[in-house]
Amino acid sequence: MRILTGIQPSGKLHWGNYFGAMKNAFELQKKGDAFLFIANYHAMTTVREGARLREATRDVALDWLACGLDPEKTVFYRQSDVMEVQELAWFLSCVTPMGLLERCHSYKDKLAHGFDASHGLFAYPVLMAADILIMQTDLVPVGKDQKQHLEVTRDLAIKFNNAYGECFKIPDAYIPDTVATIPGTDGQKMSKSYNNTIQLFEDLKSIKKKIMGIVTDSTPMEQPKEPEGNSIYELYKLFATPEEAAEMAAKFRAGNYGYGHAKKELFAIYERTFAPFREKREKLAADPDYVEDILKAGAARARAEAAKTMDKVRAAVGL
Ligand code: ADP
Ligand code: TRP
Repeated sequence: MRILTGIQPSGKLHWGNYFGAMKNAFELQKKGDAFLFIANYHAMTTVREGARLREATRDVALDWLACGLDPEKTVFYRQSDVMEVQELAWFLSCVTPMGLLERCHSYKDKLAHGFDASHGLFAYPVLMAADILIMQTDLVPVGKDQKQHLEVTRDLAIKFNNAYGECFKIPDAYIPDTVATIPGTDGQKMSKSYNNTIQLFEDLKSIKKKIMGIVTDSTPMEQPKEPEGNSIYELYKLFATPEEAAEMAAKFRAGNYGYGHAKKELFAIYERTFAPFREKREKLAADPDYVEDILKAGAARARAEAAKTMDKVRAAVGL
């Protein structure tokens, strides 16, 4: 079973990304033939500075490799190293009804957030379909916000197959509903758009400061507290073993345990969990050629797959 997903290099990764997406991808890399790519073509729809895109692409690669992406198990590549996806995006464009793209929420959302109404932004789902279909993907793990893009992908694959004969597998979305929404420092969903994130690899002082600043209610220290639903406990649980989580819950319920105490424990458990990842990231960052070699090797494997599909598709369309 081929499992493929893409990640946009559009900012520093945060705890929400790690627990909401990355951990799941690390589990999936054990279950099938996994492909993961950095969607730098897609990021061009919103990032207009070359240096920033290059840096964000490198950061995402480092973060994923440091946190446990195994390049032996997962084909890890930059989207732009597989130029064939651009050619396929054009082929798919020619069977894409305008109305299908006009109905996409993400385009309208981006305009509402002040982005320019570019053709790239409008055609974004077609490029995404090309990423998926070119690799003959079975399963695409994505967040809820990408559900409609997967529906577009399936529609385009069916339309293309109907017009030209069987060229593509019809992929399924994999949207785990078991993944909790990770709260940010203000209690709402952690998201870079809300300025409430704790990044995976910012410096420890800054992480500590953000943790100490997590918004809580003003229940006095002595009073017993309900741990469920409180952001500090919810975040702690993500890192903790079940026993450690139960221990913190019991302390909250017993009273004489304040949010300040819990915040210190949260910082300590983050530090413990991420210490090996931080060390690995530093080593990788000091050896850019090594990371580049991983991405190049991934691209070579991905291009070999893409070439197989494109031979078939070019012949089918009459080129
Ligand atoms: P952001 O909201 O910061 O822009 P993205 O939309 O780039 O994050 O998310 C990338 C991936 O991380 C998606 O799969 C998304 O579902 C997951 N993710 C992001 N924030 C959270 C969160 N707070 N809780 C759970 N998953 C999250
Ligand atoms: N649009 C996805 C996002 O913003 C990223 C992406 C691009 C992707 N191409 C993809 C995800 C192909 C899955 C499959 O999260």
